[in-house]
Amino acid sequence: MWTSSTSSSSAWDASASLSSLLIFLASCAALALLLSYFGAKASPQSLRDPIPGLFNTLQFMFNNEKFMARVQNAVKGGQNIIRFYLGPKTVYLVAGPQNIRAVFGRELVHEVTNQEQMTRYALPTLYKMTPDEVRRWETDHSVLGLPGWLNPKPSKTHDRYVAAIERWLEIVSRDFNWESTDAEADWEPRFGGRAVRELYIWMKETKWRTKVIAATLGALCFALTSNSIPTTIWMLMEIIQDPTLLEAVREEIRAVATNDPKTGKITLDSQNLVALPLLQSIWTETLRLRINFNIVRDVKHPITLGGNTIAKGALLQVPMMVAYYDEVTWGATGHPASEFWAERHIKYTEDLDEAGKTHRKPKYAMAGHPTSHFPFGGGANICPGRQLAKFEVFTTIALILLRFDIELVEWTNPDGSASKRAAKGDKRYCGAGAMPPDRDMKIRLRHMY
Ligand code: HEM
Repeated sequence: MWTSSTSSSSAWDASASLSSLLIFLASCAALALLLSYFGAKASPQSLRDPIPGLFNTLQFMFNNEKFMARVQNAVKGGQNIIRFYLGPKTVYLVAGPQNIRAVFGRELVHEVTNQEQMTRYALPTLYKMTPDEVRRWETDHSVLGLPGWLNPKPSKTHDRYVAAIERWLEIVSRDFNWESTDAEADWEPRFGGRAVRELYIWMKETKWRTKVIAATLGALCFALTSNSIPTTIWMLMEIIQDPTLLEAVREEIRAVATNDPKTGKITLDSQNLVALPLLQSIWTETLRLRINFNIVRDVKHPITLGGNTIAKGALLQVPMMVAYYDEVTWGATGHPASEFWAERHIKYTEDLDEAGKTHRKPKYAMAGHPTSHFPFGGGANICPGRQLAKFEVFTTIALILLRFDIELVEWTNPDGSASKRAAKGDKRYCGAGAMPPDRDMKIRLRHMY
């Protein structure tokens, strides 16, 4: 049985103390009001803010799904760049193929960047940091968490997470034999992958505080797993709940697998595996419906976007939800854009064999324009793990489906009771990355070999 864990230290929790936030937000609201008055002239239209400076910020943070639904409506109304204030920060939500292409394209590569965001959230940039910047990283609350008074419940969860990694680091570094071959291994059972061990050594040598090392490795762990694992689970859930689809996918995978009848060992041709039409269509469809966040860029120099002037210091956000749920781009007869359809990205061609007989052949072809599909971001900052992710997700699914007969028993609620409906994306994660399933799937497994 797979479970849909719903706790997250980084996600803003709806149960967080609102009162502690109000002081912060009230001061932001005053600033945002001033900005909206003075900054409105040559820039895009604002998203209506029922309580100026406050409502949009709160809804963005605590009910991102509703916020994005309002943005979707505004886009349908013809606006492709929409301004709102997130606390004191001016944010431009960018939609429409031309604008999205511009944000990810070469022309603005020096003007818009995610470096500031990624210096906070991702690791490779750290290697380029000066000692001063490292110290700033050390005190940055996005590594150690937002100040506790601002967000008490997730802060405590975050502290427990970091403390657990600290304890683990204490044990592995104490037991590790730095003279053994493990010190050079690509994988060993203590640190796991070499990247983690090397990062640990580098951070120790650069004299990072233990707590910051733990928080940083925790962030790496999150980046590596937070999208790939839910994507794998969603693909499996979609396949397993439809026995015809399950058989079709299995059949497709069998064509790129060999099985040693004596040992039961399965060997996969991984290059052909990731090119399978049906599996690719399910992958694209799953990423389209389940990965849900806004790609973020800082505006380093003033830019013109869609005929609008955007000032230095603003934040651009390209929301996936707006592009992915667009009926005109993705909808098909009987298969609205909001629904999963395994074959949405398949086209059939007819080939003649030597005997003149026609064969219908499936080919993978993305249903919408690639500009409307950016689960890995785009341009210079596109996700460097995207190919690895595809290989690891496809391989995991192939091995599970080839090894086990799987049958859906029932959908269950998080408390284990039976659920009358299948899983949907957990809306609390809207805007925060991959949305995990809000229901579990109870299954029956039978080893096939
Ligand atoms: C289904 C799996 C994954 C999804 C949907 C995903 C999605 C994303 C997205 C949307 C971005 C932001 C790109 C942008 O700003 O344009 C990103 C960045 C990044 N991802 Fe992934 N990712 C996945 C798996 C991975 C894996 C497996 C790794 C590591 C092996 C990884 C490492 C990174 C790194 C280091 C960045 C920062 C890149 C930079 O700013 O230069 N991701 N990812």
